This record gives sequence, structure tokens and C-alpha cells, in this order.
Amino acid sequence: MNFFKLTIRDVPLDHQTVLVRADYNVPMASDGTISDDFRIRASLPTLRYLLDRGCKIVIISHLGRPDGRDSAFSLEPVALRLAQLLKRDIRFVDDAIGDRVFQAVKRAPKISITVLQNLRYYTEEETDSHEFAKKIAKATAARYFVQDGFGVVHRAHASTDAITLYIPSVAGLLLEREYTIITAAMESPKRPLIAVMGGAKVSDKIAIIQRFVKVADKIIIGGAMANTFLAYKGLSVGASKVEAGQQTVLDAIYAAARDKVGDKVDDFIILPVDLAVSVSMNPDSPRRVVAVGSVKADDIALDIGDISIERVAKETGKAGTVIWNGPLGYSEIPAFAHSSARLALALATQPGIASIIGGGDTADFVLKWDDKGGGSFTHVSTGGGASLELMAGDKLPGVESLLDAPSQIEYTNSNNHK
Ligand code: 3PG
Repeated sequence: MNFFKLTIRDVPLDHQTVLVRADYNVPMASDGTISDDFRIRASLPTLRYLLDRGCKIVIISHLGRPDGRDSAFSLEPVALRLAQLLKRDIRFVDDAIGDRVFQAVKRAPKISITVLQNLRYYTEEETDSHEFAKKIAKATAARYFVQDGFGVVHRAHASTDAITLYIPSVAGLLLEREYTIITAAMESPKRPLIAVMGGAKVSDKIAIIQRFVKVADKIIIGGAMANTFLAYKGLSVGASKVEAGQQTVLDAIYAAARDKVGDKVDDFIILPVDLAVSVSMNPDSPRRVVAVGSVKADDIALDIGDISIERVAKETGKAGTVIWNGPLGYSEIPAFAHSSARLALALATQPGIASIIGGGDTADFVLKWDDKGGGSFTHVSTGGGASLELMAGDKLPGVESLLDAPSQIEYTNSNNHK
């Protein structure tokens, strides 16, 4: 599948100053260290490509949601980690606009990387301010803008949208890879396509479940979301977390599913038949497995049960493609991580299955589980909200704003105009 936007491979950026938007919104530990550098590692192919072409690279990103300037959200630790990973000096500037940035970029060597300070120190970033975007363009004097922050392209911010009006803008290699792999899995998957959905809330994933009802061959529901489905079916889930107000949404999901598969709906939307429960969230509280009809009033469902776990392994084992969004249990407690670990193992040991792992909590889980840093799967997405929106079929502002690949441009013969 060809990407519909120009990429860094399509433009003559050799020896130019190139502004790269990365998503270095990485989890930070309380001591200020980076607890997971997956997003930084994922940005390396684009940076290496640009370094190989003699570019002067300037990187911009956000980190967290600071309320103005706040050193707890500084990108300096990210610049240090980047230096370790690339084994080269990285410059860091404690601003994203202004003369300090201009001077630093001007003085930077021809082949170099300069990381600028957190874009969200400036309120104008999130308001998609054109004035702010112009200031970034002016301070960096970049010849090209490269969007490679896949995790943030669902936001219309100054560094994903407005900036593209001031610098010719193309996609980086990570963005291209994320977009094409996820889109191909949704639009032309190797079948059967099995969608595995977990996590806490149905309401966060309505659009994507609706899309999977159309495109998937089966949908497996786990996580706390399964409680809401079971309660909808009239089953008692004891003291488990159930999301209120989802009746209409679930009515619509089941109506669409029945339109597609008729009376086989329970073999299409697969719910757990047993649950792993506990009477408290305390990690020492024992795990019991009970059938869905036998949950006691004080039981809290924290994972799907053993029979359901085997069913997940069996169904996904027959798949051509598995797209997995959301942990199947409360995996922070090891006793309730069985289902997610079993699914990770099933996918990692069957390389014939295309396995697409959605970002956010699911990516966090498999990256901790996998000693190959995610390499056991076809694709682990760096995007949380962005991957969900792309899977749901939404247009992503940070992608739409980039220059079109030539095959996308329509030329109109002016003689045809009246
Ligand atoms: C993410 O982590 O999903 C992205 O970096 C976007 O961050 P945001 O939700 O704070 O906009």
C-alpha cells in the first residue's frame, strides 16, 4: 500500500536544516528518569536517515500536560537518552522559539541534532496558533518540516497543523510505517481478522468497536469492558466495575452485528464465559475463577477466566491478522495478567499471524512482557489515541496537513471551466 503523503524519501533534503516533530511524550518516573523509551527508539530510523543525508536536525515535541513552564516536564532527559541511543552529541535548548533557538541552530554543526524545549510550555501550541507556528519556523529557519510524531497526529496543534503552512511538510518513516500498517490491517487484512478489545471503558472505544463490527471476522471482548457487556446481557458481575449509560450504544453495536451475522452474534462478539475474580484489589487477595453466571455480590472481576483465556488463544490461533487494543485483565497485578500474557505468547509464537498491537496500555504491557522490545509482534504502535482514531477510520489532522503524494493530486483542465 502506497502512503498518500510525501515522505522524507520524496524531497531533496540533503544537507538542509530539517525540523522534525517527534512524539517524545514518554512516561517519567518520580526521580525524573525515563521509565520507557519506546517512543524515542521508534524515532531513530528517521533521525538516522536524515543524519546520513547530512542534515542539520532540529527536534520539537511535547511531554505531558504542563501548566506553563515546569521543569518536571523538561525534554532535557529525552535529549540525553537520545544521545545515548545514537551515541552522538545532542544539543538542547531550553526554548522552542526566539533568538536563543535561532542562534543555537545557526551555530549547530552541519550534521547535528538539536532538541528544543517542550512545546507545551507555550499555551499557543494547543490552540493551533499560527503566530506560534511562524515563530518556530523563523527560529529554526528549517527548509523542511518532517512529521514523525505518530502519537500526536490526532491533535490539531501548532506543531501538527499550523506549522505546515509555513514550511514544506512531509512524513517521517515512523509516521509512514504506522499509517500504512494500521490502515492495511483495517482495509485489506489477511483474514480471518480478529479484533481483541480490552481496557476499562466502552465509551472510549465506541467508534472503533463499530468499525470492527464492519471489518472484523470476530471481536473478542475482555478487560473491565467485558463487565459492561455482560451486565448488558443481564448477567450479574457482582462488585465489578461497570460503565453506566451504555445501553443505547450496545443496542446499536448488537443491532449492527446481527445485521452482519444474523443469529451467530454470540460467536461474532465473543464475551468471556468465566471470570477471574477477587474480593479486593489488594495484590495478596486470592484469585478465583468463576463461571459468568456464578459471580458473588462482593466479587470483583479482574481478568477473564481460564476457559475464556483458552478460547482467546484458540480463536486468535486461527487468525490471519489480530488487532489488539486494551489489556484483557488488570495486568498491574500479576495474578490478573494471565490472559494478556497468554495472548501475547500466542501471537509472539505464531509469526504467521500479523499481530498489530494498539498503543497506550496494550503497548506498555507487551513491551514489558517481550524480551525483544516489541520485536516479537508485527507492529507495536507508538500511538494511543492516534492509533484508535486511525483504526476507527477518522482523518488525522497531523497527517492530512502534509504535502500530498503526486498520485493524490487532481489536475483540472482550465478549458473545462465554464
Ligand atoms: C499521547 O501520549 O497519546 C500523545 O503524546 C498525545 O498526548 P496528549 O493526549 O496529551 O495530547
